[in-house]
Amino acid sequence: MNVPMLNLPAQHAPFQAELEAAVQAVLRGGQFILGKEVAAAEEEIAAYCGARYGIGVASGTDALVLSLRALGIGRGDEVITSTFTYVATAQAITSAGAKPVFVDIDPLTYNLDPAQVEAAITPRTAAFIPVHLFGQCADMEPLLALAQTHGLAVIEDAAQAIGARYRGRGAGTMGQTGCLSFYPTKNLGGAGDGGMILTNDPALAEKLRLLRLHGRTGDYYYELDGHNSRLDEIQAAILRVKLKRLATWTAQRQRHAALYDELLADLPEVHTPPVAPGNEHVYHLYSIRAEGRDVLREWLRERGIATAVYYPLPLHLQPIYESLGQPPGSLPVAEAVCRDIVSLPVAPELGEESIRTVAAAVREFYHRP
Ligand SMILES: Cc1ncc(COP(=O)(O)O)c(C=O)c1O
Repeated sequence: MNVPMLNLPAQHAPFQAELEAAVQAVLRGGQFILGKEVAAAEEEIAAYCGARYGIGVASGTDALVLSLRALGIGRGDEVITSTFTYVATAQAITSAGAKPVFVDIDPLTYNLDPAQVEAAITPRTAAFIPVHLFGQCADMEPLLALAQTHGLAVIEDAAQAIGARYRGRGAGTMGQTGCLSFYPTKNLGGAGDGGMILTNDPALAEKLRLLRLHGRTGDYYYELDGHNSRLDEIQAAILRVKLKRLATWTAQRQRHAALYDELLADLPEVHTPPVAPGNEHVYHLYSIRAEGRDVLREWLRERGIATAVYYPLPLHLQPIYESLGQPPGSLPVAEAVCRDIVSLPVAPELGEESIRTVAAAVREFYHRP
């Protein structure tokens, strides 16, 4: 049995006709930018996450860049974030003109370690970007308390964590803004790029709506130096159809994860991902730490089982950030995690048989039938 990381055509098959009808309705209506589909998607997705406002933008990366710009963060500012994240988190900071400051992670949740964040604060620090990696929220309470003490902004990178909860609060609703990605492989994925900014602050929501539209406040009249970054009507229509299934898919991901936890629990060579107390994990990725990771991956590949490594190199060691001066050895937890982390297939459409097949192959690799 072949097991891919995900299978989007299979995910869509049960409601393909509804998806196609939604796209056709937009095509027939002729309104392609900022029409009723985007307005409805903003309302529905914000409500799903537990935020007052949603602002649809062109990507998760843009959601981060526009959040920084709306909060007035740019040249001369430092923004603290995790070294163990997708490059977009850091590129958003440099795109806004600010400097990323990478800190180390908690070895259990792979998210920002609040003690390391505190140690990295300088008079130039303007904000933190906690990343809710793999679908589990960072430890937000100490981060929000630190931000308040020091007068700093918090922008949540919730690209991988739509619907995740931290002590009852939704991912992306705790900071000044939260940023979602609708990249096709995400838990809620479009048929192309897309993103959304969540916020509870009406003034910030208004500013973000202007910024995504060139800062336009009247007919060919501009009060803010903005940008062109909008969620398309066609993407919004697709996302609305898929949003109706998201809670069911998330529950399926959680069942798959629980099954892996159970089937791999007794392997000393494998660390399954713990969930911190008070967190609800949405398992965008099910990432284990595995002894002999690269040999294990090859063994699984030979048996038709896909895996992926998120991420093989922490950002502070990437060539583009060498000039920031955070050398090898400076953030040891993330460096160690990058050497043995591997993500196993967990997507909802794969079904429990696939999960059992993968777990059995992992057990066989370690000679534990
Ligand atoms: C943690 C994280 N941040 C930001 C992004 C950027 O989102 P996008 O690809 O929609 O620009 C992604 C996903 O791609 C991500 O995984």
